[in-house]
Amino acid sequence: MFKPLLFIAAFAILSLGFHFQRERLFPSSYHPAPSTGSTQDHVLSPNSIQAIYNSTLGFGDIYMINMPGRTDKLDALRLFTSVTNISYTVVPGIDGKEIPHVAWPGFYKEDLASRTGSWRAHMNAAASILDNNLSSALIVEDDADWDVSLKTQLTQFALGSRHILNAPASSEPLSPYGDGWDMLWLGHCAQDLPSKPLARFFIANDTTMPPAGRRWGLWNPEEILTYDVLHNHTTRVVYRPAGGVCSYAYALSYTGAQKMLYHLSYSHFDGPFDVGQAGLCKRGRKGEIDYSCVGVYPGLIHAVFGDNDMVYDPTTPRKEREKKKGTPSAPNLVFGVRENVRNLIEGKELVGRWQGEEEIGEMEMWFDEGKGE
Ligand SMILES: *[C@@H]1O[C@H](CO)[C@@H](O)[C@H](O)[C@H]1NC(C)=O
Ligand SMILES: *[C@@H]1O[C@H](CO)[C@@H](O)[C@H](O)[C@H]1NC(C)=O
Ligand SMILES: *[C@@H]1O[C@H](CO)[C@@H](O)[C@H](O)[C@H]1NC(C)=O
Ligand SMILES: *[C@@H]1O[C@H](CO)[C@@H](O)[C@H](O)[C@H]1NC(C)=O
Ligand SMILES: *[C@@H]1O[C@H](CO)[C@@H](O)[C@H](O)[C@H]1NC(C)=O
Repeated sequence: MFKPLLFIAAFAILSLGFHFQRERLFPSSYHPAPSTGSTQDHVLSPNSIQAIYNSTLGFGDIYMINMPGRTDKLDALRLFTSVTNISYTVVPGIDGKEIPHVAWPGFYKEDLASRTGSWRAHMNAAASILDNNLSSALIVEDDADWDVSLKTQLTQFALGSRHILNAPASSEPLSPYGDGWDMLWLGHCAQDLPSKPLARFFIANDTTMPPAGRRWGLWNPEEILTYDVLHNHTTRVVYRPAGGVCSYAYALSYTGAQKMLYHLSYSHFDGPFDVGQAGLCKRGRKGEIDYSCVGVYPGLIHAVFGDNDMVYDPTTPRKEREKKKGTPSAPNLVFGVRENVRNLIEGKELVGRWQGEEEIGEMEMWFDEGKGE
């Protein structure tokens, strides 16, 4: 049974003016359902959710992984974060060849130097959370793109993650995303099918959602996630993924960072970073280890593809690389920052992809706790 909990009429139309207005409207304009006396009443408290509108999106910091020397990518990040009011700290990318063999994980081989480098950069980001004693951090790879309204999207996501986590009954969790999570997998190129019990938080009639048929992913859990939802073509779902692939963006809590360093560095680990990340979610889901992942489909942050200049290969002569001007937005984004950065700077109307392809009514959000096993 679905229990509509939240109803937000104000999201119906999207225009530039309205777009920013809706950020202000949210979350004060949503109406908690009549009290059911359930332990989940607390999730409707909007109090600390406001922190998501701060410059680190309600996390302790944002770590952008950027290869030293790739100032082209860094300039892009500087622009994109400035127009979306985000602050960040750079975590330098690592060339795997520079890591001494004794420091390699598992059975890494020389020909896997780029994977080793990527793994090391992600480990350093997790370690920085501990070094700086942060409550959490969002870790983002530097070819990322996100929707202009990311803060609003994350606020909706947070309502979902609080439900999914069934966070302890306090009116203000320590994290605006709810407490008890290790990882929030916000940017990926595929998510595994969820396992049972399938608790789902629906964000239906989402104007920032690519219509069905316009979504890209190596594979996707789409049909399982929304098979029973009428008019599901612009419905986003927050749930517990049983794995996934690609580490475009994910948040770690302090304990999530400890567990990641434990399982993917201190313990024997043998595989690309995102495989390790998926393994943590999978084993957490199965109860093999204590690891709590919350994901969202489609993801909110995505890497851009098809731009040769984005690939880290200093040996390719520049003239043989195609420099694309005005890089298009990443897949799965409607109001991508890349596509709109100039509009934002010049104060012009935003451009959205796939507009008018689906009839989009009033946004609705609700939680279905799913059936037990
Ligand atoms: C944003 O909010 C989070 C959660 O309350 C907090 O940890 C972080 O320090 C805040 N960031 C800034 C820049 O104030
Ligand atoms: C960034 O902040 C400025 C000043 O508060 C505001 O006018 C603008 O709409 C914000 N931009 C976004 C994308 O949130
Ligand atoms: C880390 O932060 C927590 C919570 O703010 C605090 O209780 C603890 O003393 C800090 N630890 C160190 C080593 O500073
Ligand atoms: C939407 O739901 C229908 C059943 O009502 C299902 O057949 C279809 O696969 C779903 N579409 C998506 C995009 O999940
Ligand atoms: C979404 O919009 C459609 C079309 O306007 C409408 O029929 C539907 O009731 C709305 N809500 C949901 C949950 O699909």
